[in-house]
Amino acid sequence: MRLHTLFIGHPIKILEQVDSTNSYALNLLRDNLQAEGSIIWAKEQLAGRGQRGAKWSSEALANLTFSIILRPQFLPVAEQFQLTKAIALGIAGFVSHILENNADIKIKWPNDIYVKNCKIAGILIENVLEQSTIKYSVIGIGLNVNQTVFDPSIPNPASLKTLTGKDFNTEDCLLQLCSFIEKQYLDLRAAKYPQIDEAYYNLLYSRGIERNFALSGESFTGEIEAVNQWGHLIIRKKLVNNSYEAIQVADSKQLVFL
Ligand code: BTN
Repeated sequence: MRLHTLFIGHPIKILEQVDSTNSYALNLLRDNLQAEGSIIWAKEQLAGRGQRGAKWSSEALANLTFSIILRPQFLPVAEQFQLTKAIALGIAGFVSHILENNADIKIKWPNDIYVKNCKIAGILIENVLEQSTIKYSVIGIGLNVNQTVFDPSIPNPASLKTLTGKDFNTEDCLLQLCSFIEKQYLDLRAAKYPQIDEAYYNLLYSRGIERNFALSGESFTGEIEAVNQWGHLIIRKKLVNNSYEAIQVADSKQLVFL
């Protein structure tokens, strides 16, 4: 495949060990301007951070744990969730390319990358704000590549290796992944929102399927309908009389897919 990476991945700073590439990138940004597209890639993260205060654990050298510094200043505040979508689509596109489009690749709201009900990648986006606009966005990505044994506390992990039986060169994966992400980012910059929305909806895990959920401990049956502009999940909740009520979920931590 011809790589068309223009700026994401220039430069790549490689660290043997760091607490968290996101924290490292945020510290760099506190002191200095950084080129858009710069990457901090750690071979080992000692305190990898996940969404909403969770941990991200990843075997040293086996996987990809990195952060991309972006400057999406073109993005109106009301469209900020489009960035999350674009990054998730880039990762899903890369995974799909590696798995030769054979697998059931989904984006579990808001931005976990799943293959056949197992999580292969997670995204942690942290913004540096200037007044009410995003000055920088730090896009932290953890992608399981060659790891085959996972901490039992991780409910349903997958890696490129568990799915294919093959070993991968992590640097090649990173460069290819950058090119997939860049393509989506350029679409975002070109304000191709309808295209991004459609691609995200098409990959949205469990959309349009009746299933059970628990929201803040209360279980119910419903169907994922949409994700609104603010990134909130809209579920059609089934009521006792078989009518429906649309509910909005803002915090994915409150929602369990049963
Ligand atoms: C999640 O699924 O909860 C998000 C996981 C994000 C993990 C990546 S690994 C590189 C970057 N640095 C971090 O500390 N976290 C992100």
